[in-house]
Amino acid sequence: MSESLYDRLGGSEGITNIASDVIDNHLSNKTIAPRFAQSDVATIKNAAATFFIAGTGGPNVYKGKDMLTAHKGMNISATEFMAVLDDALAALAKNTIGQREQEEVLFVLYSMRSQIVLV
Ligand code: HEM
Repeated sequence: MSESLYDRLGGSEGITNIASDVIDNHLSNKTIAPRFAQSDVATIKNAAATFFIAGTGGPNVYKGKDMLTAHKGMNISATEFMAVLDDALAALAKNTIGQREQEEVLFVLYSMRSQIVLV
């Protein structure tokens, strides 16, 4: 079992679909939707997909900001952070990603907490 997380999430196509669902979930999640009121949906879906593909061992080179720079000064709460994780897990489940992969993604996302919450 040496398949990368990238492959197990369905490669670039699978991850692009998952990332799109994550953003759709954010936009209908009352806890965090206001944060994205001014966002261009296609742009943030693309940022989420390329970040995710690069971070799971895929071919993309992510050219966006690092997580601290992207979220600095936003005063993001722990509750908002959990809402993002919930949305990610719901998107993974919707795309029939297995329990083990869901846990791996959750671990990776959670590890970024200190660069995002109250920075
Ligand atoms: C592990 C959790 C998270 C990850 C992996 C993540 C990832 C990202 C990425 C890749 C970007 C794009 C940076 C760029 O454009 O260069 C971004 C922007 C952003 N993030 Fe996060 N984020 C997380 C948590 C959060 C939370 C909890 C909030 C607040 C609810 C949030 C709000 C935003 C906003 C408002 C933007 C700017 C969107 C725009 O450009 O229109 N993020 N994030």
